[in-house]
Amino acid sequence: MAKHTKHFHSLILFVATFSLFSSCNASYINVVSFGAKPDGKLDSTGAFLRAWSSACKSNEAATIYVPKGSFLLKQVTFWGPCMNKIDIRIDGTIVAPSDYWSLGNSGYWILFMKLNRVSIYGGTLDGSGAGYWHCKKTGGNCPAGARTLSFSWSKNVEISGLTTINSKAMHIAVDHCQNVMIQDVRIRAPSRSPNTDGISLQFSTDVTISHATIMTGDDCISISQGTTNVWIQRIACGPGHGISVGSLGTFGDEAGVQNVTVTDSVFTKTDNGVRIKSWPQPSNGYARDIVFRNLIMQNAYNPIIIDQRYCPSGNCPHQNSGVKISRVSYEHIKGTSASPIAINFDCSESNPCWGIILQDIKLTYYKGSATSSCRNAGGSSSGIVIPRSCV
Ligand SMILES: *[C@@H]1O[C@H](CO)[C@@H](O)[C@H](O)[C@H]1NC(C)=O
Repeated sequence: MAKHTKHFHSLILFVATFSLFSSCNASYINVVSFGAKPDGKLDSTGAFLRAWSSACKSNEAATIYVPKGSFLLKQVTFWGPCMNKIDIRIDGTIVAPSDYWSLGNSGYWILFMKLNRVSIYGGTLDGSGAGYWHCKKTGGNCPAGARTLSFSWSKNVEISGLTTINSKAMHIAVDHCQNVMIQDVRIRAPSRSPNTDGISLQFSTDVTISHATIMTGDDCISISQGTTNVWIQRIACGPGHGISVGSLGTFGDEAGVQNVTVTDSVFTKTDNGVRIKSWPQPSNGYARDIVFRNLIMQNAYNPIIIDQRYCPSGNCPHQNSGVKISRVSYEHIKGTSASPIAINFDCSESNPCWGIILQDIKLTYYKGSATSSCRNAGGSSSGIVIPRSCV
């Protein structure tokens, strides 16, 4: 009897495996069979769009496969809604044209719109940004810089094992999305490439970013208006501008940022470590319930900073920031500061920061002792805090 049952189970398993396998096969779409060319020269945009359209109409979960090789894509939007889950598996490299005008002025290179259940596994996206950065730096007549990979108005998104290099503008932009998981990604652009943020979030909720290596010319990760429930873990950031909440207060009427945790991460030679920044002007925006925990600073210029007078151009109204910052905790943060002010809370005069907690901090400055600086900042500290807390 026992033996029969066992055979019966094997048969069930065999049938189940077989049908799973064949159904996968039925909607397995190789972009090459739609005419994509792996030579990095011929435009594969049309082929990718045809592959997408076929996957999107599929009655069962579909896999789009991009094999080894280099595929040239121009500006492309993959529209939803689609019938089913779509997985995109990439073994090759997708390359943007280095002629930045050929991407138009939309600010996007690869855009996914209005989707539910889409995943990208593996692959490299090469934004070919060098010419565009040169145009920006020399003050030429340049179009809007194209972000490499954007997800807008989508939910249940996963990006795993992806590499993105030399974006013309931001590398990964997540906008109006829900339930997004970004893991095992590598992002790389030179430290002097302008506005090449690693991952940028806005108007999104339930976002996890874990195990990423990010080297850029701007923020490694930025979390801006309307973003809630964010978990960021195991990030190696640097060079770059650190992990930022903000810029906030860009608009008078603005949704806030709430419930963000950044943990187990290392910042190496970054301009900032963990930063909250807002423009010096009226706004109803806010940032609250933010936790920065278990972080190592290796020569970060401003390891811990709240800057409510953020104005990199110097050309701002210089009013009090209306953005309300509260319940921000910094726990177990160690390492070295590249500037003497290791902790800097520069909060709004009309909306002081409150509920700032410092716990077990040890930040040193190589030329002498580090200091902390507070303006309109209230809260408490516990454990050993070096430099001594000013809240
Ligand atoms: C805060 O966000 C985390 C995910 O990062 C989530 O698990 C948790 O439930 C959220 N807390 C609240 C109060 O919404």
